[in-house]
Amino acid sequence: MCGIVGYIGSRPALPILMGGLHRLEYRGYDSAGVAFFQEGRIDVVKRKGRLSNLEGALRGQFGDDLSSGGIRLGIAHTRWATHGAPSDENSHPHLSASGRIAVVHNGIIENYLEIKRSLTTLGYRFVSETDTEVVAHLIEHHFTTDACRDLLSAVLRTLGEIEGSYALGVLCADDPDSFIAARKDSPLVVGLGDHGNFIASDIPAILEHTREVLILEDKEVAVLRADGVRVMDTLGRPVDRRPMHVDWDIESAEKGGYEHFMMKEIHEEPRAVRDTVAPRIHGGGIRLDDISLTAEDVARIQRIQIIACGTANHAGHVARHAIESLCRIPVDVDVASEFRYRDPIVDGRTLAIVISQSGETLDTMAAMREAKRRGARTFAIVNVVGSSIAREADDVLYTMAGPEIAVASTKAYNTQLAAVYLLTFRLAVLLGRMTEAECAIWTGKLLALPESLERILSDREVLQRFAYEHFNARSVFFIGRGLDFALSMEGSLKLKEISYIHSEAYAGGELKHGTIALIEEGTLVVCPLTQTSLLDKMIGNIREVKARGAVVLGIACDSAPKVDDVCDTVFRIPDVDPLLAPLLAVTPMQLFAYYVAVNKGCDVDKPRNLAKSVTVE
Ligand code: G6P
Repeated sequence: MCGIVGYIGSRPALPILMGGLHRLEYRGYDSAGVAFFQEGRIDVVKRKGRLSNLEGALRGQFGDDLSSGGIRLGIAHTRWATHGAPSDENSHPHLSASGRIAVVHNGIIENYLEIKRSLTTLGYRFVSETDTEVVAHLIEHHFTTDACRDLLSAVLRTLGEIEGSYALGVLCADDPDSFIAARKDSPLVVGLGDHGNFIASDIPAILEHTREVLILEDKEVAVLRADGVRVMDTLGRPVDRRPMHVDWDIESAEKGGYEHFMMKEIHEEPRAVRDTVAPRIHGGGIRLDDISLTAEDVARIQRIQIIACGTANHAGHVARHAIESLCRIPVDVDVASEFRYRDPIVDGRTLAIVISQSGETLDTMAAMREAKRRGARTFAIVNVVGSSIAREADDVLYTMAGPEIAVASTKAYNTQLAAVYLLTFRLAVLLGRMTEAECAIWTGKLLALPESLERILSDREVLQRFAYEHFNARSVFFIGRGLDFALSMEGSLKLKEISYIHSEAYAGGELKHGTIALIEEGTLVVCPLTQTSLLDKMIGNIREVKARGAVVLGIACDSAPKVDDVCDTVFRIPDVDPLLAPLLAVTPMQLFAYYVAVNKGCDVDKPRNLAKSVTVE
């Protein structure tokens, strides 16, 4: 999610590090910093806001020529906040207590609170709210008190204790001839140059210096020196990694080698969902550390009002099903612009759940204020830490999608659903409607979703072929029942947003009340078929449209019977509990929309007339 660059070699390090950060800035960041080795100590300069703020601070120290300081070793970071708001203190690099160890980190340390507690009792003081700071202190703790012979042993020992995902760069003032990198579930590459060696979270950061890279695998550690790199596993055993030659240009490197950001972001879904759920599940239970809702608060809630726009609103429709079925609290879902002006029935016993990727959508923001004004307690599900909605809501549950650049929202939706499920299970437990044991079964199902998403992505060719055959469609209908209808709204939106094909979502049972008049020979109909109890009814609806000449793409679980007999093509997804199915079944719809738009030659990442963040009414 964040960006990392590191360098050791014979060239001035600061221009290389700043150049690398600039290459990562396209992802949109909230703060940046560098740590560098100079005259026997580590200096850290970091600033909230755009990279120009950091640049200004460095120029204040070194003058206009950043190569003047004789610095040959450093690590740098641009931050996309996850733990703690964007601020100078929360920016990376983080220093250990003595200031002799500096760390940059991407990912989430899931057990940071436990480690923080035990280090605090040992006398360590924390200056940031981040999960990363524990890594710096823990390495120093092992380095100084546990008789680890060297920095490497202290880092390896630390890696054995932290849980979660990480790409790490570690610098130590006592070892100015090397620095250490490590990765687990968060990308990190090592660049091999003629004048020195690099680390980077994304290849574009170092592409102007080298095209020879070692892609670190999970649980691998690299020790970088000016004249060489050693790669090992987390037990210190050597690993043989061959460099790969990268021949992408900068633009495709920014997209991770994909043709569009949208495709890159769809491929990030397994990681994004894992980062959203895994750190919040402990021993089968759900821990939402920053949420202040108590069992008494929850018992007072008489109704829930969901407010959102666009894709986030569609996530709200799934939320309504989930909450009503497991918590038995009545739920309304409104688009924010309608909610504001309809004199809604909201009072002190209403929980207003606001969903927003950007946290800045003006209508959503204004609707949240309106709900608050009428006495509701507000709960936001937001992707951007420190955004306006996140700041104003009573409670915030962050989705960990990372920056989303394509205008059409993809991974944000999957993570919004992940957050919705976490909240639903937690509310159900607090209400006494779900036992801890039942909750553990649900959370186990949630944790299995990223792997299922991986399979869907690897089977995408079926959708590519189908899209190729049908990209000339003039109108496409999405039809589903229950949660499949909620999901159809999102599938239909995705298609119209990026391919400009007219599309509508309909509840299966409603077809015969009008829409079926529009079905004729060759009309394309997409049907999610994940709701087992409604499958026979949907098969009936498919027969109705087939009888009028429709071509049908079904999206069904592996074990769904009969669907091959009625659909023209069936895309199979791994078996999943029907309640959780939208989180998986949306991905084939996103891929279908993507392939149709590509075939039509549309500007997939920047569709006409649309904006990523709508901050006007
Ligand atoms: C715009 C975007 C959509 C997004 C909607 C709500 O229309 O193009 O992708 O779903 O705004 O945005 P939010 O940031 O509040 O989720």
